[in-house]
Amino acid sequence: MNSKAKQRVSPSVIRRLPKYRRCLLELQSRGIQRISSKELSRITGFTASQIRQDLNNFGGFGQQGYGYNVEELFKEVGGILGLDKEYNVVLIGFGNLGQAVANYLQNKIGFNLCAIFDINPNLIGTELCGVKVRDAKEIKDFLKINNADIGIITTDKGSAQSTADLLCSGGVNGIWNFAPLDLVVPSSVVLENVHLSDSLYTLAYYINNQNQQNKPE
Ligand code: NAI
Repeated sequence: MNSKAKQRVSPSVIRRLPKYRRCLLELQSRGIQRISSKELSRITGFTASQIRQDLNNFGGFGQQGYGYNVEELFKEVGGILGLDKEYNVVLIGFGNLGQAVANYLQNKIGFNLCAIFDINPNLIGTELCGVKVRDAKEIKDFLKINNADIGIITTDKGSAQSTADLLCSGGVNGIWNFAPLDLVVPSSVVLENVHLSDSLYTLAYYINNQNQQNKPE
């Protein structure tokens, strides 16, 4: 990645990178070694010029007349996303969604679920793949002696802000928030909200407005 990557890149470009990576992984699994932006356009649904522009934010990577080397581009995109690193993750709220998210994380290379917290005595002491569910009262002390990069909030709405405060003062770099609340966090902490309903309601809109051509990615 050259110095271009240090410039501010539009969030919509960043949102497209995981899709590029996913497609490149799929191409690799099919033994495809190189691809043109035109072919990549057909697979991703983004225009070839969009793809070139997006990748140019980080230095380009393609060669005129050759296209992109699939393996190299996959690595580069992963590197841009920070997927060449390991992240320690703590999850707060081991209810229905928390359990699903924790299970999902078990298979995510690079995201190491190191602790789970809840307030429910019936859940405290249970385990998921060797990770024990601890009493939420222990969050502060845990974070004093353990480094956590990412905190996941899957508590109910009422506990979400106090949980975020605990995570921020405990030194996490980012919060993956599932609670339906606009959390307030210091500017040093990256906040990523996930709302399944946003996606569902977007689906409902496009069912009722059949013009898929205008559907943004
Ligand atoms: P749930 O009630 O099954 O789980 C919540 C868990 O949080 C419970 O185990 C509870 O004991 C625990 N908890 C409550 N306060 C806590 C605290 N201070 N510290 C630690 N643990 C605490 O609820 P469910 O269905 O798992 O939903 C969890 C959250 O996710 C809710 O805020 C819900 O609105 C939200 N949600 C978000 C979705 C999304 O797309 N972002 C989709 C579904 C739910």
